Amino acid sequence: MPNPLSSLTISRPDDWHLHLRDGEAMQSVIGHSARQFGRAIVMPNLKPPVTTTDMALQYRDRVYQAMRAAGVEGGSFEPLMTLYLTDNTTGEEIRKAKESGAVYAVKLYPAGATTNSDAGVTDLLGRCGPALEAMQQHNLPLLVHGEVTDPEVDLFDREAVFIDRVLIPLRERYPELRVVLEHVTTKDGVDYVMQAEGHIGATITAHHLLYNRNALFLGGIRPHWYCLPVLKRETHRQALVEAATSGHSRFFLGTDSAPHPRGLKEHACGCAGAYTAFHAMELYATAFDAVGRLDNLEAFASRNGPAFYGLPVNEGVLTLERTDLQIPDELPLGRTTVVPLASGETLQWKVQ
Ligand code: NCD
Ligand code: ZN
Repeated sequence: MPNPLSSLTISRPDDWHLHLRDGEAMQSVIGHSARQFGRAIVMPNLKPPVTTTDMALQYRDRVYQAMRAAGVEGGSFEPLMTLYLTDNTTGEEIRKAKESGAVYAVKLYPAGATTNSDAGVTDLLGRCGPALEAMQQHNLPLLVHGEVTDPEVDLFDREAVFIDRVLIPLRERYPELRVVLEHVTTKDGVDYVMQAEGHIGATITAHHLLYNRNALFLGGIRPHWYCLPVLKRETHRQALVEAATSGHSRFFLGTDSAPHPRGLKEHACGCAGAYTAFHAMELYATAFDAVGRLDNLEAFASRNGPAFYGLPVNEGVLTLERTDLQIPDELPLGRTTVVPLASGETLQWKVQ
């Protein structure tokens, strides 16, 4: 056996799917992302959602304020803003978003699919034609939460059904539209992204690489492992690991780190979302190391995302060391706390 790597240095990575929240909560979490990542695609599912360019610019100002308040060094972290697609988003709004230079993508939440998605799209192909047309024309990517919300469809099948019912017809009608299947969780999703023609990518979370659905029920119900799309069975996890660690250019890092107050997770109707920004790169390194593919971590975390978005790779580097990292039991979140994924456990990698 060759000696295992004791450290790994890669170009500074980016997070292509992040929930920063707002106000005091954002101030608590933003330092974690800024410590590890050069840029992040910032999700727009606030209350109310970020549906216009003006709202995105105001939100970006608040992100910078939170960075200053949290003592993040100026210039070290760049928020890439997104718009929340609704049935009423106009082509003109899309043009304005592109021209702002601050909005990098538009997010599709099927109405009712996940946290703060009530204002989401009810019928993508029926209602969003003008917006999709303009996104294709102005080269603004569509980021999809790829799950149908039809209550007749089993929760674990919602991604596969979305691909057939929505994604394939969408891409036939708008062949030049750039699409990211966010937080892909199934072999069906991976297979589709690998073989599809045209401009498509997919983000993969650390939790979907490390855990299958058994984690939700280990010795009792485990609310901190509940996220959407929900964890799937082991065969799907293995397909995700193979895709992420292969170096394939269509797959890139998106944590989907989604902090919720502890009390709203540990609840009779607990909300969806796993908090991983604190230890994101350590979790990803653990997943890549487990299959002996640390050599492809840089492609997945630092190169494939910028290539998809047409942006340069970050200039700095990030070094991971093979040493213990104890995950705290909880972390501050405004006036409450958030429980990071796998709290209390120890990882074998640590960001320097
Ligand atoms: C996200 C959140 O809390 O905002 N939750 C989640 O489980 N991933 C919403 C989302 O991205 O689906
Ligand atoms: Zn998300």
